Amino acid sequence: MISQRMQNALNEQIKHELESAYLYLSMVAYFRAEAFDGMAQWMTVQAQEEFTHAMKLFDYIDESDGRVELSALAQPPKEWTSPLEAFQAAYQHEQFITEKIDDLMKLAIEVKDHAAQIMLQWFVTEQIEEESSVRKIVNLLARVGDSGHGIVMIDRELGKRIAVPAVSKE
Ligand code: FEO
Repeated sequence: MISQRMQNALNEQIKHELESAYLYLSMVAYFRAEAFDGMAQWMTVQAQEEFTHAMKLFDYIDESDGRVELSALAQPPKEWTSPLEAFQAAYQHEQFITEKIDDLMKLAIEVKDHAAQIMLQWFVTEQIEEESSVRKIVNLLARVGDSGHGIVMIDRELGKRIAVPAVSKE
């Protein structure tokens, strides 16, 4: 059975993952309002992925004979001054999530919860990919600067991202 400390920490991470989805959905609204439909598509898929991250933790707590407890989500920002600023904010947020995953792993090691360590390993690896994919977009947007043509090209490319299944245990 999962320890109370580990359960509390994983419940807190469910909140962080759902807040990630909430933040990215707010960015979807911003991108749509600015007619960046490709970026909106990319961020929609990102928000869907965050929901699957929350559900991985949800299922793990449940399967470990723990109790999932949901808490209130923080209201995300609504406006950014540019696509670059929005993706920079997404990148900073992913760095914050990486810190949280690292803290969870440290706790799992401290309380000798081997099952949690194995489960969290997936998140450790996932965060490398999460940070990398957003960082590449930040770098591209920074490179094109105010070039409308460049931003349109990036928007078109990001619109190719395909949606993932809404809920997955994989
Ligand atoms: Fe669930 Fe983007 O980290």
